[in-house]
Formats: sequence, structure tokens, C-alpha cells
Amino acid sequence: MPTSAFIHTTSGLTIEKGSVTWESPSNIALVKYWGKKENQIPANPSISFTLSNCKTITTLYYKKLSSPSDEFQFEVYLEGKKQDDFKPKINTFFKRIEQYVPFIKEFEYKIETSNTFPHSSGIASSASGMSALALCIMSIEKELNPSLTDANFTKKASFLARLGSGSACRSLEGDLVCWGMHKEIKGTSDLFGVKYPYEVHKNFKNYQDTILLVDKGEKQVSSTVGHNLMHNHPYAENRFQQAHDNLSKLIDVFKSGDLKSFIEIVESEALTLHAMMMTSLPYFILMKPNTLEIINKIWSFRETSGLHLCFTLDAGANVHLLYPENEKLEVLDFINSQLVGYCQNGHYICDSIGFGAKLISK
Ligand code: DP6
Repeated sequence: MPTSAFIHTTSGLTIEKGSVTWESPSNIALVKYWGKKENQIPANPSISFTLSNCKTITTLYYKKLSSPSDEFQFEVYLEGKKQDDFKPKINTFFKRIEQYVPFIKEFEYKIETSNTFPHSSGIASSASGMSALALCIMSIEKELNPSLTDANFTKKASFLARLGSGSACRSLEGDLVCWGMHKEIKGTSDLFGVKYPYEVHKNFKNYQDTILLVDKGEKQVSSTVGHNLMHNHPYAENRFQQAHDNLSKLIDVFKSGDLKSFIEIVESEALTLHAMMMTSLPYFILMKPNTLEIINKIWSFRETSGLHLCFTLDAGANVHLLYPENEKLEVLDFINSQLVGYCQNGHYICDSIGFGAKLISK
């Protein structure tokens, strides 16, 4: 599909002002996106579980300007407080999407956003935040073009969200979303996320994700910088091939419900992601001592209990503990008795697989 298919053409309709509210969840990658080409094209395909409780709620107020402006006109508020430090990222997002939604310079905006998780939790809000904002922009497009189908609305929202933050394009739907062309998964694209189209065993229904908050501080190295270090990385080509291979293996795993293989693939992906960081130039480490303590505790508890919990990491020190719903009681007991001590202020967040973004009001 050419990117030109996403360009909005005028319908002749006009809007004076309005507001729209969307909520959009975060997601946790099983096969990781790490490395990108020009225009937010991923270097390898990825797949994620959409989350349910960790989400961003964004209201976009828009008002027609008397004449289109040269600059993007907007103010951003996080939890009611003006947040000027969000502006550069949103400005870059607007610049990248302008050619696809040329009407955006005709309006001025007030963006009001809040997260269900603490901003300073070390949980990346870019996936939920950028997808919520992309959906709000798409609601303006839908007002200008009422014939836009729901399927095309979601596809273009994912396309735009990707231009804000790559992983954001996987947050619109659930429960499993792929992004990046993969030869064995029908409909996959580098341009937007798609719902995983094949059979998924009941073992993976309502899978749980407890996020152990090891370090709530700002990341020392942003994902964007990390992705760029995959250019000229000595292991890049093998890593990209490994992501393709792991996705191929997951097709069988999702079908059969083989939790042992699932654990092996997911943990290997998490450690490979961090291995890429440790072997780039400059090299860096985002795990903290408590991240490793938790990983070792998980391994020994898994060994002794025979349960199917495993971990994954994103670009930070927090640990996502993944497990099937029917093991929830034992795993929560394990967390409370053996892991909370490694979490900053004893904090963790219980989440589970979700089904994507929702329109709250228009
Ligand atoms: C480690 O989507 O945050 O979480 O496209 O530069 O905004 P940008 O990067 P971002 O990268 C996420 C990386 C990851 C893995 C993943 O979610 O697949």
C-alpha cells in the first residue's frame, strides 16, 4: 500500500470548532521493535499484547483559525497542568503527519491529556499518548469526510500514530497486534499495525501483565537514540533476522498454546533487546541491580513451582511479569512475598490484555 493512499483530500465540508476524547492503552512487545529506517519504518517486525489498565485519555479541542497558520498552534496540558516540555515531540509529530492530514494547520488546539498510571512511573506513555492523539486527529478527519469507513479510520490512525512513536501504532486494537512486514503473517505492513490474524489458544486469553516498578526515573537514553544506535551495529542484521524467526515460531506457539516455548521466545527477546543496548556504540545499560534480582527470583520460582510466569522488559529497568490468568493467585502471592522489596516504594501495577482504544466523547 503506498503512503499516498493516506493523504486526506478535501471533501468541501468545513468545521468551526469542536472537541473529541479518546482513550488509548499502552502495549507490551513480545517480539521487540528496536532499530528503524527513515520515516519511522521499523527495521524488523514486532508483535505486542495490548494492555487494558495502563492508558492515556486525551481530549482535543479544536477551533478554526481565521487564516491558516505557518506554525502549529497548540497548547498541551497534562493532568490539568500546562506541559510545555511535551511541545517539541508533538510539534515533530504534527510536522510528520501534516502531508496526510493537511487540514491540521487550519485549526488551533488545546490538548488535555492524562494517564491512568503515574507519569513518573518509568512506564512509557508515548504509545498510549501518541495513539490517543492520532485518534483525536482522525476524528476531525472523519467529520470532514463522513464516508471514511471504520476499518480505514483505524488503519490511518495507526499509520499516523507510528509517525508519533513507532510502538504507538500497535495500541489501537487488541489483543495481539503485529507491526512490520512478515512473510508468514497476512496483511502485515511496515506502515501500520494489524490485529494478529490467526488462531490464538485459550492459554493466552486474558494473559496477565504485572509491571514491577523498579525505577521510576527518567530514562538515561531515549528509545529514539537507542533505535538509531542500531545503524552500524555489529549484530544488527542477525538481530533483525532473529525477530523474523521468533515471530514465525510464535505463530505455532499461539496456535498450540505451548507456554514453555512462549516463555523461551519472550525472555530471549527481552534480553536480546538489552544486549543490543550493551553492544552498541556508545553502549549503555538500562537494567538496574533490582531488575536482575527480580529476573533471578522469577527463574528460581518458575523452577520450583512449575508455573508459567516469565518476564519481558522494554527500554527501561521495570520488569513486566507475564503469566496465564489461571495462575494469578499463586503469582500474586509470589510477587507480594518475594518481589515487592525490589520495587521502588513497593509499587507495581496489575494489568492484563486489552482490546484497544475507545472513543469516549465527540
Ligand atoms: C523497546 O516506539 O518508543 O519498547 O519510534 O522512537 O518513538 P520511537 O520508539 P518507541 O520504541 C519502543 C521500543 C521498545 C520495543 C517495542 O515496544 O517494540
